[in-house]
Amino acid sequence: MTEILVTGGAGYIGSHTCISLLDAGYDVIILDNLSNSRFAVVSRIQEISGKTVTFYPYDAANELELEKVFARHDISCVIHFAGKKAVGESVHMPIDYYRINLNTTLSLCTVMQKHNVKNIVFSSSATVYGTSDIMPLQEDFPLGECTNPYGWTKWMNERILRDIWNSDPSWSIHLLRYFNPVGAHSSGRIGEDPLGIPNNLFPILLQTAVGRIPKLIIHGNDYPTPDGTGIRDYIHVMDLAEGHVASVKKCLSDSGVNIFNLGTGKGYSVLEILTTFEKTIGRRIPCEIGPRRPGDVAICYAGTQKAETELHWKASRDILSMCKDAWNWQSQNPFGYE
Ligand code: NAD
Ligand code: UD1
Repeated sequence: MTEILVTGGAGYIGSHTCISLLDAGYDVIILDNLSNSRFAVVSRIQEISGKTVTFYPYDAANELELEKVFARHDISCVIHFAGKKAVGESVHMPIDYYRINLNTTLSLCTVMQKHNVKNIVFSSSATVYGTSDIMPLQEDFPLGECTNPYGWTKWMNERILRDIWNSDPSWSIHLLRYFNPVGAHSSGRIGEDPLGIPNNLFPILLQTAVGRIPKLIIHGNDYPTPDGTGIRDYIHVMDLAEGHVASVKKCLSDSGVNIFNLGTGKGYSVLEILTTFEKTIGRRIPCEIGPRRPGDVAICYAGTQKAETELHWKASRDILSMCKDAWNWQSQNPFGYE
C-alpha cells in the first residue's frame, strides 16, 4: 500500500482530503498538533471511510517528532496542510505566522530529504497572485504583492520549495493554489469549524443561520460587478479533496515544480451566494450592506485548464450542493465539534 503523510490532516481541508485518499486506496498517516482541530475529527474520518488511519499528535516543525514518523513508515508522498490560516489574525501576529508557516515547511523538507522522500504537495492560495485585474488567474501569471503576512507566508513557501528543487531536481513539488473552499462532506460528520469569530462568507452565513451571529454584513455593493457585490470562485471542499488525490497521483511520477489552480473557473457574487443559501435553508438571513472591506478585490476566479489537462481533474459540484452540504454539517453540528 502507498503511504501518504498528511500534515494538518485533522483540519478542515485535510480531513476531507483524507477521506478521498482512503477512498482511492491510499494508506493515510495524519500528523497534526490539534492546535486548530480536535481528535474527534480523526474518529469521524475512520467512521466515514470505514478504514483506519494512523495518527500522530505531533508538531510539523519538530524535527525529532518528524524523524519518528519517517523512521516508522515508508512514506511515498507528503501533503503539507499544517499551518496557520487566518488573514486578519496574521496582521496582528506576524511573528507567529512567519515562524509556524515557514518552520513547518523547513523542518518537514529537512526530514524528507534525509529519508529520501522527495514528493510533496503544498497547500498554497490564490492570494499569491496579489490584486490582478486580469481574470481568470492563470498559473503562469507573475506572483503579486500580498496584502497580509499570511499571504506572504504562502508566497515565501512557494519560493522555498522552488529553491529546494533548484538545488536537487529529483524533487517533485506540487504547489496547489486554492480559491475559496466551502461546503462539507455529504455525511455532515465533518466540516469547517473556525475558532473564534469567523471572517469568511460561508462560516458567517452558517453561524448566522444557527443564531451564533446576529447578521451578515455585505462588504460593499458598489463594485463593478452585475449586482455590485464581490465575485469569488467557491469550490466544494470534496472537489478540492479529489483534486489533491489527482495531484498526489501525478506528483508520485513527476519531477519538477508544478503549479495548479484548484477552483471551478466560475465566479458567484455575495448576493448570489446569499440567495442560494436562503433557498437551501428555506428562510431569510438577516443582512445589511456595509462598506467595502480593505484589501478586497471585486472579482477573483481561477483558470482551470491546466488542472483539467494535466491532473485530469475538474470540479463538478455546483453552488447549490456547496450550500446544501455546508448546511447539513452546520445544522447537525451548530457548535462545530464542541
Ligand atoms: P485548518 O486550520 O482547518 O487546518 C490546519 C491544520 O493544521 C489544523 O488541524 C491544525 O491543528 C494543524 N496545525 C497547525 N499548525 C500545526 C503544526 N505546527 N504542526 C502540526 N499541525 C499543525 O485549515 P484549512 O482550512 O484546512 O487549511 C489547510 C491549509 O490550506 C492551510 O495551509 C491553509 O493556509 C491552506 N489554505 C486554506 C484555505 C481556506 O480557505 N481554508 C485557502 C487557501 C489555502
Ligand atoms: C479570503 C482571504 C484569502 C483566503 C480566502 C480563503 C481575505 C482578505 N482574504 O478570501 O486570503 O485565501 O479567504 O477562503 O480575508 N464578504 C462579505 N461579508 C462578510 C464576509 C465576506 O460580504 O462578512 C464578502 C467579501 O467581501 C468577498 C466574499 O464575501 O467578496 C468572499 O469573502 P471571504 O469568504 O472572506 O473570502 P475572500 O475574501 O475571497
